[in-house]
Amino acid sequence: MLGCGYVGLTTGACLAHFGHDVVCADVDPGRISLLQGGELPFVEPDLAGLVSDSQAAGRLRFVLGAAEAVADREFAVVCVPTPRGPGDAPDLTFVRRCVAEVAPALSKAAIMIVKSTVPVGTTAEVERWLGRSDVAVVSNPEFLREGSAVHDCLHPDRIVVGCDDRAAAHRVAQLYDGCAAPVVITDPRTAEVLKYTANAFLATRLSFINAISTVCDVLGADMDGVVAGLGYDRRIGPEFLQPGPGWGGSCLPKDTRALLRMAGDAGLRFELLEQVIETNDRQIDSVIGKIRVAAGGTLRGAVVAVLGLAFKANTDDLRDSPAIIIIERIVGEGAIVRAYDPTAREAAGTYELATTPYEAAESADVVAVLTEWEEFRDLDLDKLAAVMRGNAVVDARNMLDKAAFVAAGYDYTGLGR
Ligand code: UGA
Repeated sequence: MLGCGYVGLTTGACLAHFGHDVVCADVDPGRISLLQGGELPFVEPDLAGLVSDSQAAGRLRFVLGAAEAVADREFAVVCVPTPRGPGDAPDLTFVRRCVAEVAPALSKAAIMIVKSTVPVGTTAEVERWLGRSDVAVVSNPEFLREGSAVHDCLHPDRIVVGCDDRAAAHRVAQLYDGCAAPVVITDPRTAEVLKYTANAFLATRLSFINAISTVCDVLGADMDGVVAGLGYDRRIGPEFLQPGPGWGGSCLPKDTRALLRMAGDAGLRFELLEQVIETNDRQIDSVIGKIRVAAGGTLRGAVVAVLGLAFKANTDDLRDSPAIIIIERIVGEGAIVRAYDPTAREAAGTYELATTPYEAAESADVVAVLTEWEEFRDLDLDKLAAVMRGNAVVDARNMLDKAAFVAAGYDYTGLGR
């Protein structure tokens, strides 16, 4: 596994769990020594146990540097980041560097697997960069979510393998025999397009549901009922229907823009996807508008307690987190923000970090819930009211018990509730 981020580390630990002999490599010495010492570089439920079990079984180890890792391996899996580059095209510097480093070190007839999310055509490009006619290059995108990465990796909905060399494709598919998931074998370009399509489709679904929460607001309907009723429709399904402060994270924003850019470069204007992204920007505006109204019409001098900083629950990842964007914007309008997140160790912006929700809410005019951490369901309403200056709560995850808040005298605002 080349790269010990969410994807490389989780996939590596899962492959070791399936019985394979796995070496995980990274260029960051700090990260490798942390992992060798049994610690994780990020918050991810269940991953520490899986890593330590596989280490104890002698099937998982960590090394510094990609070339060292691949020497005696049958498979080399590229899991390095592809961050948003200039003009929304993914930056392939890390992929290129990694391929160049391992090219001379790969064992004869090894298979190179590209797991990083890469623009369409990159798998073929990697083949050229590699310059090894004995090594097949296979696209094998991942679909795991941060926060439930281990579960998603052990129980994937499907395995996608893209390679014109069918024998190599089948060998890659066999790596996942341990999880009995359906396998889609196709060509590399199709596998690459499929990955972007999945994330763009999820983003479309969320923008649609967020837009419907606004429809519920203006038409006076209840979003919870709409979500419940929709989810029972088997063609729609119950997951990914929860309205929120906009979709964020390291993947959906980057991948939707990359797909738009790739289609654009090929001469196709993908207007629907443009609207999906614009709707997401408007969702952030809408949540800010609700916080402003809750503060009495202006944020100047308002004290806002933000509960949740991560882009979603069960992760400490702040990349493209709507909470961080919202904080920056309301601070820009003159608000004073005190924030609490169970995984935050230091403030990552112009806000003060509190160690409990109640500390964050001291003298607050508004409490805004921006990440759906389970513990926020158990807030003590009397304790909260006792420390606040105002009584307004903006629930941008529709997760609080509205009736209980209203009964306790709060001015509650949700999304279409
Ligand atoms: C996403 C995809 O879900 C994964 O399948 C994919 O493998 C991954 O990107 C990737 O490309 O690596 P992730 O970014 O970890 O996974 O997070 P999601 O669970 O997709 O959440 C994305 C955003 O949507 C978050 O901001 C989350 O709060 C929001 N969301 C999600 C909602 O607002 N409502 C929902 O019902 C679900």
